[in-house]
Amino acid sequence: MRHLLAAAWAGALEFMNHDRVCARHWDSLYSEFAEFQFALCDVHGAVVAAGFSIPVAWSGRTRDLPSGLDGVLEQGAGDRARRRRPTTLSALLAVVAPEARAQGLSGEILSGMKAIAERHALRELIAPVRPTLKHRYPLIPMGRYARWTRADGAPFDPWLRTHHRLGATFLGVAARSMVVTGTVAEWQAWTGMEFPASGVYIVPGALAPVTIDRRRDLGRYVEPNVWMRHDLAPA
Ligand SMILES: CC(C)(COP(=O)(O)OP(=O)(O)OC[C@H]1O[C@@H](n2cnc3c(N)ncnc32)[C@H](O)[C@@H]1OP(=O)(O)O)[C@@H](O)C(=O)NCCC(=O)NCCS
Repeated sequence: MRHLLAAAWAGALEFMNHDRVCARHWDSLYSEFAEFQFALCDVHGAVVAAGFSIPVAWSGRTRDLPSGLDGVLEQGAGDRARRRRPTTLSALLAVVAPEARAQGLSGEILSGMKAIAERHALRELIAPVRPTLKHRYPLIPMGRYARWTRADGAPFDPWLRTHHRLGATFLGVAARSMVVTGTVAEWQAWTGMEFPASGVYIVPGALAPVTIDRRRDLGRYVEPNVWMRHDLAPA
């Protein structure tokens, strides 16, 4: 699963590996929250897809949603530490090996997450979704992008469409789902781009622009995602 994850955020997406909240909490998913993680294997036993999730105590009110991926990871860890009873499963990441994509495996991952949530008698599955094609439209606000539809009324974005087809509804925009900060040299190494002056840059693979401040030697990326909700069969 670690190899699969490394492949998901390789190359131009290297910056995605430098979210501090993920760095702090991700390993605990394999230990404290192991029963909420799973992999799909091919006939030879090689891992081709994986689903990561965490249970949280959520009121069901949109205004109480965590900030996004970072927020839900922190809340899940905090809820477990304070022995708060979880109500909801939150997806963290669905990942399919590059050579196994576009075969419908992502729907299998979502079904796997729903099955885990039902097994733990949780009320719903929520997900801070990273829309697959948003990186091509980094200047469009996420709230507008998430509402784009095709002629048939289904969401424009393929990953939002997969959630929609499996019955998910739109909850809201997670404006601050992930935060990646680094020095200018780090951002140059992660992206292979030069940042000669302070400013706002379009970076390949990023869903929104990256702000570079040369005086403070700081690059900052705030990734917006989309909160979706899947209702589950009653326990
Ligand atoms: C997002 C991800 C899990 C989708 O997995 P997948 O197995 O390729 O997706 P599927 O084959 O189930 O296809 C889902 C939809 O996306 C479409 N699709 C797949 N790859 C596509 C591409 N490169 N460009 C456009 N559409 C694409 C499919 O046609 C399908 O839409 P449709 O059924 O309406 O035609 C996969 O791309 C991935 O692992 N990405 C990297 C990690 C990531 O971003 N995860 C999501 C974080 S929330």
